[in-house]
Amino acid sequence: MRILVLVLLLAMAVAIGQPWLGNPANAAEGDRSAGRKIFKQCRNCHSVRAGKFTTFGPNLYQVVGRQAGTAPQHDYSPALAAADFIWTPERLDRWLADPEAFVPGAKMEFRLKSAQARADVIAYLIAAGKR
Ligand code: HEC
Repeated sequence: MRILVLVLLLAMAVAIGQPWLGNPANAAEGDRSAGRKIFKQCRNCHSVRAGKFTTFGPNLYQVVGRQAGTAPQHDYSPALAAADFIWTPERLDRWLADPEAFVPGAKMEFRLKSAQARADVIAYLIAAGKR
């Protein structure tokens, strides 16, 4: 299992670092500075700073590559607390498009309809996790 996760993460890293490997049909190229502006919509509930507590949503520092539902100090819905997967850009894309459809019972009252906006904010989350 650990090996599988490692291989997946490696594949992700390669895919992110080498955009020409991405499939343009379903994976829009993310622009992290555009994503930074889009993240303003998330900020009422989330922070990307290490250890920063936010009242409504879990901390998102290094969320890409992290086990879902495990940020400290956050009281998750039973559905997300029980989720057994690691956040990848693909999963984040599906989550942001429709959290409730991706994890039935999840409680995030927010959606990003635009695929480009989702790709941008995911690029920003990855970049912010490297600081
Ligand atoms: C109105 C508040 C609110 C807004 C706005 C919001 N979220 Fe959330 N988010 C939440 C809550 C609450 C949860 C936890 C859901 C649960 O426990 O089911 C969550 C969970 C998440 C998770 C899962 C984290 C984990 O630890 O598993 C990610 C990723 C996420 N949000 C990203 C975003 C992004 C990116 C945006 C902006 C595009 C955003 N959210 C906007 C409230 C919000």
